[in-house]
Amino acid sequence: MSTVSPSASILFSDLDVGVETDAPIGSMTWYGIGGRADLLIRPHTVEALETLCRRARRSGVPVRVLGSGANLLVADEGVDGIVLRLDHDAFRTLQYEPTPDGMLLRAMAGADLARTLMDAARRGLAGLEALAGIPASIGGAVRMNAGGRFGAIGGVVESVACLNRQGDRVVYPASELRFDYRSTNIPDPIIVSATLRLQESDPIALRRRVKEIFEFKKASQPLAEHSAGCSFKNPLDPVTEERVSAGRLIDAAGLKGLSIGGAAISRQHANFIVVDPGATAGDVRALMQHVRKRVLEHSGFELEAEVVIWERTEDSA
Ligand code: EPU
Repeated sequence: MSTVSPSASILFSDLDVGVETDAPIGSMTWYGIGGRADLLIRPHTVEALETLCRRARRSGVPVRVLGSGANLLVADEGVDGIVLRLDHDAFRTLQYEPTPDGMLLRAMAGADLARTLMDAARRGLAGLEALAGIPASIGGAVRMNAGGRFGAIGGVVESVACLNRQGDRVVYPASELRFDYRSTNIPDPIIVSATLRLQESDPIALRRRVKEIFEFKKASQPLAEHSAGCSFKNPLDPVTEERVSAGRLIDAAGLKGLSIGGAAISRQHANFIVVDPGATAGDVRALMQHVRKRVLEHSGFELEAEVVIWERTEDSA
């Protein structure tokens, strides 16, 4: 079992935060499997978050942020350092500000993407509906430019507020940000909030669109099972310079339904790895390894994980 050194408490004992030691973060992810965190800290204010990050930086303690855990696999051995969860009320607020050509929405990083998009749709504000059915926190969605066939969040970002490695606040306007396929150029470890540009629209038509996109996803993806969405990024075809569906490549390699331990390739969409409650993170990793090898042999494409994997940084793992 993991332990937390008594000296670690000096980092947070006087701060307005909630602390849990040996926290079962694996079960907080969408996979619902994997190890624990030595320290799970929930700041109650932005100031507490800033101070904590500064102290952790000075002490060399690694800090990670757990969003909604929708694209994350926690190694069975768990993780050291500090895992932050920005799910206190202060990190979930939505603030609307009218502008001459629409509305700006400042969403704190811990706000749930689905609730944010429904809140905006109810107010007749368009811009986020392409993200229907994507499980994420706002911070996680911005960090990896969440999206799919219908669009990605980067298209509506006006600015992003972060804490840099020194624990100082930095705001990046859209003109300094690059949103690429499932990635951004945000250099800082912590996203605090994102300001999104929305347009007035008809609420009924908007809700119909959200429903259509969600239904489309439900028909093609195993949304009811435990998974972390797509396991691999769609690789670039060097000849056409277009992305090829990793799901199609895995399917073509004949891997649908293949399982290792409690992890299996979904029969509905081959880029989804679905897990039983008894599965280990090791099962998922072994299956991913196997898929990469078989797809490389079958089609020559090297698949890169889309799922983020957290492991211990210290040698004692
Ligand atoms: N296909 C197969 N077999 C499969 C899966 C797909 O033959 O098992 C074929 C489909 O029939 C279709 C093509 O491959 O002709 C593309 O499939 P799909 O439309 O499902 O798109 P995708 O490229 O596999 C991407 C994103 C998804 C996103 C969908 C939206 C990536 C890695 N995947 O999948 O994102 O929801 O488009 O349509 O970018 C995610 O990021 O977690 C994710 C699920």
